[in-house]
Amino acid sequence: MSTLRITTASPAETEELGIFIAALLSPGFFIALRGDLGGGKTCFTRGLVSAIAPQSAHLVSSPTYAIMNSYSAAIPVYHFDFYRLTGDDDVNELGFEEYFYGDGISVVEWSERLTEMLPSDVLTMKFKYLDENRRIISLSSSGENSEKVVDALVKKYNP
Ligand SMILES: Nc1ncnc2c1ncn2[C@@H]1O[C@H](COP(=O)(O)OP(=O)(O)OP(=O)(O)O)[C@@H](O)[C@H]1O
Ligand SMILES: [Mg+2]
Repeated sequence: MSTLRITTASPAETEELGIFIAALLSPGFFIALRGDLGGGKTCFTRGLVSAIAPQSAHLVSSPTYAIMNSYSAAIPVYHFDFYRLTGDDDVNELGFEEYFYGDGISVVEWSERLTEMLPSDVLTMKFKYLDENRRIISLSSSGENSEKVVDALVKKYNP
């Protein structure tokens, strides 16, 4: 397992991290986003989508009712937000496996709510609020593909 901690000092820096990671992804990649409310998960996702599906980047927001937004591109991006799912709504039974195990890139906010059917190879990113403009982002890998991404990030951010 590879790990890395990055501090971003502005929303633009968090978007840049998304843009940088986008270039390293392959079909089927899964990114689990966790951590504080207002931590920057959606901001990161907007950067990632701006690199993969530029015409859709302006649409990336914290979904109010939608659980999933899909952005079409050569490799489609599926953006999930499970924040509003609580209690009797069982995230694990909504039938998202076809996305998680498909050929697109899955980016999942509030992945804490997913307890089953997570793919084994996941890039996990935990967002922590430091102060108004700074966020600590802790990354970890759990398989071959996610490890390649973290290793590339270590070279860039922590050479
Ligand atoms: N370094 C930073 N990185 C990301 N966002 C930042 C940073 N500094 C300030 N912000 C601000 O913090 C907010 C982050 O909001 P965002 O919607 O991305 O968080 P989130 O983790 O998706 O929250 P939620 O759990 O509610 O979905 C934005 O208003 C953004 O402008
Ligand atoms: Mg969000």
